[in-house]
Amino acid sequence: MTAPAARRIVLTGATGQIASLMARYLAPRHRVILTSRTARPGARRPGLTHVTCDYGVYESLVDAFRGADALFVVTNDPTRPEHDRNVVRAAVEASVGHIVKLSAAAVLDSAAHDLITEWQRGNEERIRASGIPWTMIRPRSFMSHALGWAPGIRSGGTTYALHPHSRNACVAPEDIAEVSARLLGDTGHHFRSYQLTGPQPLSAHEQSAVLSQVLGRPLVCRELTPEEAHARYARRYSPAMADALIASAGRQLAGAKAHTTDTVERLTGRPATTFARWAADHRERFA
Ligand SMILES: NC(=O)c1ccc[n+]([C@@H]2O[C@H](COP(=O)([O-])OP(=O)(O)OC[C@H]3O[C@@H](n4cnc5c(N)ncnc54)[C@H](OP(=O)(O)O)[C@@H]3O)[C@@H](O)[C@H]2O)c1
Repeated sequence: MTAPAARRIVLTGATGQIASLMARYLAPRHRVILTSRTARPGARRPGLTHVTCDYGVYESLVDAFRGADALFVVTNDPTRPEHDRNVVRAAVEASVGHIVKLSAAAVLDSAAHDLITEWQRGNEERIRASGIPWTMIRPRSFMSHALGWAPGIRSGGTTYALHPHSRNACVAPEDIAEVSARLLGDTGHHFRSYQLTGPQPLSAHEQSAVLSQVLGRPLVCRELTPEEAHARYARRYSPAMADALIASAGRQLAGAKAHTTDTVERLTGRPATTFARWAADHRERFA
């Protein structure tokens, strides 16, 4: 594999969970252009620029992507497929050299036919058909979902989950960011797909026990009914997205999300982050 000299690298989703962690790996060596609708406070440092764009405004994407040797694509709304079409069309018009796409592990699961998974399959297909060299990153669930428990932990020492004993080999966002940065900065990964997991599958019940140890206080993990879980999802997402998340939890119950890969270790040279390490690193966000 050849590691080229400085590249012009455009990151979409600059204020989101993964791209916001990537600049630290890329900025010392590459010219990095962060893009999103809003600028992240404190994102200004040498080697970094922020450009405002909107997936719904095609011209803003062409302007932001022009001259990119590599483009990191994060979209997050399956109910707006025109956003994904705009991103790929703009990448072609802007002559982007390489697309690294944040997809999802579920695309490999033949039993997964929910809205989110079908959307990500379509996104991958569109990129493969674009003529631009691509790399797909397919992570399992982000460990940061546990942050959704923070208010319940603070107020009553409670975590909650649908199917709390089903296991998920969830992965640290920091690991996804480091792997993504390596794939963007190197030309040796064209036309490859990488499935990323954490080092071991854990249930919500087991994650709750880890958090209890890290925080030094007892926690109770309460089982949600499907109706309760749906109502919680629907506070944040559309009903169709809530349905997809319930279906996804059902696949987890059937064991579809428990297997692990060694991709993080192969690509970074160090073991994947454990949930205990991740929880300790983010302790103050639960306290
Ligand atoms: N969460 C998981 O467990 C998981 C697992 C596997 C795969 N994934 C995939 O990972 C991706 C990230 O999802 P997420 O929800 O976690 O993302 P996120 O962190 O919320 O990031 C979304 C980013 O997109 C930007 N954005 C949103 N709408 C935009 C628009 N119209 N124009 C330009 N930028 C826009 C947001 O910035 P502004 O709002 O500032 O514009 C933000 O920076 C998704 O594709 C998801 O399917 C997630």
